[in-house]
Amino acid sequence: MIPDESLYVIPVMSVATKDKTDVSRAATSAPFWYKSLRALLFQIDPEEAHTLAIKLAPIAAGFCGASFTDACLNTSVAGVQLANPVGLAAGFDKNGRLTDCLARFGFGFAEIGSITGQSSQGNPKPRLFRLVEDEAVINRLGLNGEGADAVAQRLASAGFSLPIGVNIAKTNHPAIKGEKGVADMLHSFQCIKDLPLSFVTLNASCPNTHEGIMQESEELDQILAGIVKLNTRQVPVFLKLSPDSKADLLETFVASACKHGIRGYVLGNTTTTRDGLSTCADAVKAMGNGGLSGKPLKARALSLVKQVFRIKKKEQDIIGCGGIACGADAYEFIKNGARAVELYTGLIYGGPDLPARINRELAGLLKANGQTVESAVGSGVSSGG
Ligand SMILES: Cc1cc2nc3c(=O)[nH]c(=O)nc-3n(C[C@H](O)[C@H](O)[C@H](O)COP(=O)(O)O)c2cc1C
Repeated sequence: MIPDESLYVIPVMSVATKDKTDVSRAATSAPFWYKSLRALLFQIDPEEAHTLAIKLAPIAAGFCGASFTDACLNTSVAGVQLANPVGLAAGFDKNGRLTDCLARFGFGFAEIGSITGQSSQGNPKPRLFRLVEDEAVINRLGLNGEGADAVAQRLASAGFSLPIGVNIAKTNHPAIKGEKGVADMLHSFQCIKDLPLSFVTLNASCPNTHEGIMQESEELDQILAGIVKLNTRQVPVFLKLSPDSKADLLETFVASACKHGIRGYVLGNTTTTRDGLSTCADAVKAMGNGGLSGKPLKARALSLVKQVFRIKKKEQDIIGCGGIACGADAYEFIKNGARAVELYTGLIYGGPDLPARINRELAGLLKANGQTVESAVGSGVSSGG
């Protein structure tokens, strides 16, 4: 497919000229075919482009070559063996439509969801915006999805091409709070608990709901206690936290997670901050509220990993997430304590073969330093865990 050159040049120039030295970032390292496709995709509404990507992914998977593999990339989270540490973050495949083809893109694992107790349309549109110069997006989707029952039913008959986790969040409705909120999360867990999942993530950090990110440790305590009771198959449970939470709240959440035997943390979700963006301030303001993800999130996400690595139990594992777009980013998260990483926004700018590229770059960095993923975890931190 040869796109109109004007369509091709404008968006690609805007990212490529931004930081000429940072050549391994997702956008600039994307293959020519994806740069061309991206130029077309960026002409349409971001949410429509996403819907199209979900539809095209199974077809595109058929054209992918063999994924990059190397024994140095093997890792495990909560005892689940992974061929490589690069996973798909929650939000991309909210309704569990791609579990049978995601391995073809080079992912080592994937998180489906967030699923919610009830189906939801989410917030009014428009609610997803690209910040091309920053290789970022702002979203306030507000947990739209088909609901836990429907997704569980789909997953029950789906093929899993790689280890699959499901992310659970509270239904975004003003009436679903307090006891009802706890019951809503437990209903979702009940729906999926007997599926052959590798892990479940509890999302306490979505900024795009009526309540915003979870602030109440008591509420989290109730949810975790309920999940532990229902979790008869002992599926590893992770907690997804926000890079915007204050240190004392993080400490309370980690204490609660330790008390209830939570196996680890996904660190982390999007940020509502807007610091240090290259995109014109008026344009950012016009986009309105929402969670920022992609390149500008990386420093905050990494700082969250460092904080939690210091206070977590040794046996709890960290999955790092936020602005990861190249092998060096993944390596930095791993050296600071992550046993695996996840990404979403990088795919928008870097294309579907980004996981394979990250794995190839990461393997090169590990070998250059005489390390494997396993031996590199936390190797950049003087003490912790
Ligand atoms: C459009 C969009 C939708 C998202 N939806 C969810 C979600 O439903 N549940 C969740 O836990 N995180 C969700 N996230 C957050 C991502 O899982 C991830 O934590 C965040 O985007 C940071 O990673 P990234 O910089 O690689 O995108 C979403 C992110 C985006 C961009």
